[in-house]
Amino acid sequence: MKHLRLCMAVVFGLCAGRAGAAVDARPADADPWLRPAQVPAPESNAPTAERVELGKALFFDPRLSGSNWISCASCHNPALGWSDGLPTGMGHGMKPLGRGTPTILNTAYNPLQMWDGRFKDLEQQALGPMGSGAEMNQDLGSVATEFAAIAGYRARFDAAYPGESISTTTIAKAIASFERTVVSGEAPFDRWRRGDAAAIGASAQRGFELFKGKAECGLCHMGWNFTDNGFHNIGLNSEDPGRYAQKPLKSMKGAFKTPTLRDVALTAPYMHNGMYASLEEVIEHYDRGGDLKDNLSPSIRPLGLTVVEKRDLLEFLKTLTGAPMLVVLPQLPQ
Ligand code: HEC
Ligand code: HEC
Repeated sequence: MKHLRLCMAVVFGLCAGRAGAAVDARPADADPWLRPAQVPAPESNAPTAERVELGKALFFDPRLSGSNWISCASCHNPALGWSDGLPTGMGHGMKPLGRGTPTILNTAYNPLQMWDGRFKDLEQQALGPMGSGAEMNQDLGSVATEFAAIAGYRARFDAAYPGESISTTTIAKAIASFERTVVSGEAPFDRWRRGDAAAIGASAQRGFELFKGKAECGLCHMGWNFTDNGFHNIGLNSEDPGRYAQKPLKSMKGAFKTPTLRDVALTAPYMHNGMYASLEEVIEHYDRGGDLKDNLSPSIRPLGLTVVEKRDLLEFLKTLTGAPMLVVLPQLPQ
């Protein structure tokens, strides 16, 4: 049944939209807290079953790395909410990276990728970790030749991108096509929005009201994916310049992309630097109005939440965990 859901997403859910634009083309009366049925994809890379299957194999294939040992899934592990459970990623040579690994869930809908938004779409993003010496340490000049030498891959590339050669471009396009199938499953919160009054408890319902009201979380975590896709400095103890390195505006100093809260109970530790081990610690951070005040977002201030209110918020966040996507691991072409 769940496997069927993935296939259905491939057959029906994905649509080709304007290139690069993460559009949310829904009827005006659609519930803004529910995921749109269609997943945006660029016209230049419309999804097909062959592209998704090829991208899945590549996503799980460690031969994409220089050491032939690290795959995308080493860090974006479906068993760990498509992340890695570590404060910051572990890269080439087991060296820790500077930032935490975000989930790839719902990245199809991101107008910009990465904590600092430095990539504009999934096609562009995929080559980032492959070519990065710290991450997969792959030679982008030779990876296409390496994969063209694997007969099983040649057949799959022919089927997925007929007339296009095996190149970093088609590798990235296939991976992006697979990533667009990694979308959040129905969560108790969604069933509640659709009218099942008993799908979430009273505490979580109060938590949602707090989320939109007194606790002001919804100022940034807005809509069905719980993100405004914007960049904010929420006062973390961190020296990382964040978005400022891409856009040198004062307001962007220490600002990071608002992450989705879908499946958030599965993706600890939290924040760009993984500094909080639990959602309780995150709620305490917001309740005290952040720590570093230099360039703090005007939307972050002490909240004065009671013990019960903090628990309600936590209960609400837990209702965002969707039914897991069943992932059948691919047999990698030899
Ligand atoms: C060594 C661990 C590691 C590997 C391997 C890795 N990633 Fe990541 N990934 C990260 C980290 C860390 C970030 C955030 C970095 C940043 O924002 O500066 C990230 C960010 C991303 C994002 C952006 C998500 C968002 O919400 O903005 C996507 C998409 C992604 N990776 C896909 C991939 C793909 C595809 C591969 C394989 C080609 C891959 N990753 C390999 C650690 C890894
Ligand atoms: C001013 C905008 C803003 C407000 C208000 C806000 N957040 Fe956030 N939230 C962010 C940003 C930006 C990040 C990432 C910050 C970073 O890593 O530097 C984040 C991170 C998080 C994370 C960590 C997610 C992850 O995957 O690491 C959680 C959980 C979270 N926020 C919950 C909340 C809750 C609950 C509230 C209300 C009490 C709230 N946020 C209010 C912008 C906001």
